[in-house]
Order: sequence, then C-alpha cells, then structure tokens
Amino acid sequence: MSVALIILAAGKGTRMQSDLPKVLHKIAGAPMLVHAMKSGATLDPARTIVVAGHGADLVTAAAQDWDKDAEIVLQTEQLGTGHAVAQAAPALDGFEGDAIVLYGDTPFIRPETLEAMIAARADHDVVVLGFEVADTSQKKYGRLVEADGALTEIVEFKDASDDIRALPLCNSGVIACDAQLLMSLVAEIGNDNASGEYYLTDVVALARARGKTATVVRCDEAETMGVNSKAELNAADAIFQTTTRAAMVEAGVTVQMPDSVYFSHDTYVGPDAVIEPHVVFGLGVTVENGAQIRAFSHLEGCHVSRDAVVGPYARLRPGTELAEGVKIGNFVETKNAVIEAGAKVNHLSYIGDAQVGERTNIGAGTITCNYDGVFKHRTTVGRDVFIGSNTMLVAPVTLGDESMTATGTVVTRDVPEGDMAVARARQDNKPGFARRMFEKLKAKKAKAAKEA
Ligand code: UD1
Ligand code: CA
Repeated sequence: MSVALIILAAGKGTRMQSDLPKVLHKIAGAPMLVHAMKSGATLDPARTIVVAGHGADLVTAAAQDWDKDAEIVLQTEQLGTGHAVAQAAPALDGFEGDAIVLYGDTPFIRPETLEAMIAARADHDVVVLGFEVADTSQKKYGRLVEADGALTEIVEFKDASDDIRALPLCNSGVIACDAQLLMSLVAEIGNDNASGEYYLTDVVALARARGKTATVVRCDEAETMGVNSKAELNAADAIFQTTTRAAMVEAGVTVQMPDSVYFSHDTYVGPDAVIEPHVVFGLGVTVENGAQIRAFSHLEGCHVSRDAVVGPYARLRPGTELAEGVKIGNFVETKNAVIEAGAKVNHLSYIGDAQVGERTNIGAGTITCNYDGVFKHRTTVGRDVFIGSNTMLVAPVTLGDESMTATGTVVTRDVPEGDMAVARARQDNKPGFARRMFEKLKAKKAKAAKEA
C-alpha cells in the first residue's frame, strides 16, 4: 500500500528564542525536520508533504535538501493541527493509500513504531500513536479515551475534565488513516474549543460518528519527545548521542570513553574500528573497519579506509579521502585531499586540494600553499616520494614518483620523477660570531642594570 507522509512544520517555536523556525534547529547536525523525514522514510513513502508556515523558504530548502522530491504546502496562519493537515488536501487529491501525520519537532519516532501503526491499519480505520505517562499531574498532553479496547475520542488537556486528565494514556500526535478519509474528516473539524483551534485530534470522534473504528498503538514516552526550547534541544541531542554510542558499540565499534565522543546523524563507523576519547564527527563521515581515530580529532565530510590511523589531534575536512593504512598524525589538517594507500602525513601539516601517492612520506611542517588569495590550486605528489620537513608546495605543482624535496624547500616548479628539489639559501657559518655577539649583549644588559 502507498503511504503519504504529512509532516507538520508550520509553527514558529517562540520558546526557542530564535529567528530560525523551530523544526530547523539541529540534533546531531540534522534539522529536527530531517529526523522526522528520516523516520518516515523507512516506510518508503510515495509522497512526502511538509506543511510549512513560519520561515517557509528556509523550511522548504531544508526539506528539499534532504529529499528533493519533498512537497511543500503552505499554512499561512497557524490555526491548529487539524487546519495544518487540511492544507495537504489539494496535494493529495486522488491519492490512493494511507496518510501518516508526523510533527517536525518530534524527532525520535522509531521506524518500527510507524510500521506497527501501518500494520494496525489492517483492522482499524484510524490508528493513533499513544504513550503512557507515570505522573499524570505534570503532563498537558491530549488524552486518549478508550472503551472496550477501541479508541473513542481524544480530549485536549485544556478541554478535559479532571477524570480525563487523570488518564495516563496520552496522544503523541502521530496518526495513520486512509488519506482520502483523513482529508474528508479534517474538512469537518470546527474550532469550538478552549483554544479556538482546529484540533486534528477531533478526527477520532468524527470517524466514529461515521461508523469507522479507531485504535491506539503504544510506544515509549521518550520516543514522542517534542522539542520546544533550547534546553529541550540539548536534551534531545544528548539522547541521540547516547542511543548512537550504544548502537555503535553493539555493532562492534570500540568507543573509548563514549560520553566524550560526538556523532552526527549520518556517521558510519565499521566494526573493529577504534574511536578514542574526545573525537567529534561532523556531517558526512564514513570510517571503515579496523581504522583508528585517535583522541581529540575532528572529522567532517571524509572517508577513512581500513586500518588507517588518524590523530591524535587531527582535523580532516570535507573532501578528504584516506586509503588503506594511511597515517595522519598530530596537528595535521587535510581538505579536499586524496591520500593513497600507506602514505604518511605525521606531523604539523596542511594538505589541501591535493593528491598524495602511495607510500609517500610528507615531512613535518609541510604545507600545500593552495590559495593565491583569489584562486585555489592543486598539488599532485606521486608515489614513494619523500617530502622533506618544512617544504612549501606552491600550487599548482606536480612532483613525480620517487622524487624528493630537501628540508625547507619552497617548491614553485614541477619536480620530475626521481629528481630532488632544493630551493633554499646555502648555509654560511661565520666563525666566532655567536660568542662575540653574546658577550656584547650581556655587557649591554649589565650596564643598563647598573644605571637603573
Ligand atoms: C498536540 C496534540 C495533543 C498531543 C500533543 C503531543 C492537537 C490538537 N493536540 O498538541 O493532543 O498530546 O500534540 O505533543 O493536535 N502545527 C502546525 N500548524 C498549526 C499548529 C501546529 O504546523 O496550525 C505544528 C506545530 O509546529 C508542531 C505540531 O504541529 O510541530 C504540534 O502542534 P502543537 O501546537 O505543538 O500541538 P500541542 O498543543 O502540543
Ligand atoms: Ca507541542
């Protein structure tokens, strides 16, 4: 059966104290909206419709950056969740299949939970995701009212009697229903309630009035966590990190001092890789089996192959591709650089816009001078090259296989295969000069101390 996701993302999120629309605040590097889209994506939806309002241009860009086929419908005034869903009606005209409503500010709904809801649809017209709270006095969620195992209605907290407020079963907001039925139900919703809003939750009673059935699928409260403030955003990020670290360890990755390691939503690390303490994974990192990411390294947009060693204190920037067994040592920065198998860049280097051949050794302090203030240029270093310490590779420049540079060389011309480049002033020793100089300076200091 086809599924259409309807993701509500029109709200401003006043409590975020931010110009950015609420759903664009990030957890593990991805906007909350993308987290919601990702969990919905596991149902392989035929359509993904995002209801945007506040900051619609930014919301559209973020949604389509993740899924270029995502459709945006506008809700110019936020008149309630029912009104928001109704905005999707024209887009879903003629669509055959189910609609699932998700919130853009509720990032942790598990794919398994959505699958259970779709499965429950086999026997019920409307399926609502609910969760039980331990302490009903603190929770202002809508309440799910059941009778004889069926869901009879949802009552918003503001509109609920004390008896209903005491019910532990709460509404998550996630609903699954035949798309055309849902659209005809939301068209009937009124706003005669405590908030003066069009409540999506009214669809349950409206469906029952038409002789349709409704039921509840239950999940953990943690899964339905919504984010309304920066503090809740931090809490959500911490939950994501805890879950991801545990999943990594479960998959066979060694994560030392896991609480100090930060993962992005799309980080992949293969089994038998070792992640030392205080490593930060930015977006777009893949680390293959057996690689070692040593302490205090920062990685972003890069691929680390098997048995490579990175760090401690290394910075891999976007476009870095490390082949098998490569070694990147302390205080080395790489960007847009392909380092081929067995090559080493062990100390204090910047390698940018470059290609480094197999087994080549880059000496300490070597820098690719890739930027002339206007253009970026490439450096190509062949295989089995030995780059002496403190070499400046002024790009564009190419060094042939098995070539060499003398320490301190400023390379401004290509170096042919097998040659050695030396470009530095010849050394000149001045006999006794240092000793005479020291004596002069010490005498000057003594004189100054006497006069003071
Ligand atoms: C909603 C549910 C409540 C449930 C709770 C769970 C209704 C009426 N109430 O209440 O039963 O317990 O979620 O968190 O549905 N939005 C729009 N356009 C609007 C209104 C809302 O896009 O006009 C979006 C918001 O940006 C947000 C989501 O819908 O992402 C939920 O809206 P919100 O106002 O937070 O609903 P609650 O009052 O929390
Ligand atoms: Ca809410």
